[in-house]
Amino acid sequence: MHPINIAPSILSANFAHLMDDIHRIENNATMLHIDVMDGHYVPNITMGVPVIQSIRKETNMIFDVHLMIESPEKLVDIFADAGSDIITFHIETSDDPDKLIEHIHQLGKRAGISIHPDTPIEKVFPYLAKIDLILIMAVRPGFGGQKFLPQSLTRVEIVRKKLDDINSKAILSVDGGVTTITAPQIICSGADVLVAGSAVFGKENPEKALEELRTCVM
Ligand code: DX5
Ligand code: ZN
Repeated sequence: MHPINIAPSILSANFAHLMDDIHRIENNATMLHIDVMDGHYVPNITMGVPVIQSIRKETNMIFDVHLMIESPEKLVDIFADAGSDIITFHIETSDDPDKLIEHIHQLGKRAGISIHPDTPIEKVFPYLAKIDLILIMAVRPGFGGQKFLPQSLTRVEIVRKKLDDINSKAILSVDGGVTTITAPQIICSGADVLVAGSAVFGKENPEKALEELRTCVM
């Protein structure tokens, strides 16, 4: 059995009061999901190193940094230095994922791979034994608040089976469109962690919303 975790995504937080929002949920979640977008790999720009450095000083949460950027190998060092705990890059953005995974490990960080919903799921298979986290995107990366793509459930099932087959302890995380409706389905398909942005920070009362999400998957 895999313990279920919810990783709130600060993409939907109020950036004018970012730490206030994080404090509201930090005692009820262990991982904080941080979406880094570069305006190239995805059609949007969000946050980067200065934000991570600043919030690193204020919380002990595990920083689950989701790099939606081109050429991630050029930037993983500075994201490691900034205080990331898990560094996840997109399989579509790396010419040599093996090398990048090794490099992230050498930096003393946990390594994750993320996959776009349009990329065949088989693409991640060669790396499952080496990574610490697999992040299956259930929306097209770039924006919060999108609708969950239902075909993601089969992709989660496939990866769950592969991970179990090789007895991997890698975290299977699902990102995008997580709500109290989709969360139970995603968990049934075999996810360990649900990334939730608008379903937590997009609500008036994030701590209550987080509790509701947790209850619906219990
Ligand atoms: C989207 C990001 C997600 C985003 C999810 O590209 O990777 O982490 O915050 O937002 P919701 O939970 O609103 O779908
Ligand atoms: Zn994300």
